[in-house]
Amino acid sequence: MKVYAPATIANFGPGFDVFGMAIEKPGDEVVVKECDNFRIEVIGHKVPADGSNVAVVAAKALFKLLGEEGGVYMKLKKGIRPKSGLGSSGASSLAGAVAAAKVLGVEDDELIIRAALEGERAASGSPHGDNVIPSYYGGFTIIESISPLRVHRIDVELKVAVVLPEVEVPTSEARKVLPEKVPLKDAVKNLAMASSLVLALREEDIETIGRLLDDRLALPYRKKLMPWFDKVREAALNAGAYGVTVSGSGPAMFAVGENLREVAKAMGEAFEEMGIRAEYWVTKTGR
Ligand code: HSE
Repeated sequence: MKVYAPATIANFGPGFDVFGMAIEKPGDEVVVKECDNFRIEVIGHKVPADGSNVAVVAAKALFKLLGEEGGVYMKLKKGIRPKSGLGSSGASSLAGAVAAAKVLGVEDDELIIRAALEGERAASGSPHGDNVIPSYYGGFTIIESISPLRVHRIDVELKVAVVLPEVEVPTSEARKVLPEKVPLKDAVKNLAMASSLVLALREEDIETIGRLLDDRLALPYRKKLMPWFDKVREAALNAGAYGVTVSGSGPAMFAVGENLREVAKAMGEAFEEMGIRAEYWVTKTGR
């Protein structure tokens, strides 16, 4: 049995911890077999190949939630670089939970997601769902609530340019810089942007989607962890992007527009000019 969990763009501008979109590539793949305990082998990007791997944490969590004995053997092809801002831990956690669900014959979305969130909690210290949930459902997802699970999905098809620099921003660190309270005017602005973005996504109006890729809840506080942000943003806009912002808690950034190959290249070059190697590509909404 095989499980594929795509990378995701969490927050997607103004939707902190609420919006997320699956992207076609990269992704994590797991080949799964029933086993009498929990074992994992890893190929691809370097992550632990023991019980601390979030895929194992999530798989175990599902067994525990159901009071089941036994385990799974997983061969994880780790396609998403850890600490990239592309939902690497979310995808592996989800793949582990789905692998366990396949072995146990479970199809309950809420239980699978609850188990996957245990992997996310182990990785980042917070069980936020905006990577795990779009990776599970595909498309663009809006989390109304995690418990009970209430998710709204927009079946948009959107192309994005993605740039991933060779630096790491751990989500756990990026969450520590967030304030407990935000100014009311910033909350209002985010509400305006987020609600407008939902309508723009339904209409696939990429110019408006681009204009709304901003955030006043997390980005202003996180920018100090990403001193390159303004330069890369400017390069993308100069290359014709309609909008650009950070993916998840970074360091990856993404942009929307028409000429995305040029936009992706411009973002990659902006990183290179600052002495940071970066890979870039164009992809679209994942299923
Ligand atoms: N919503 C999360 C955050 C996503 O911004 O901390 C992390 O990938």
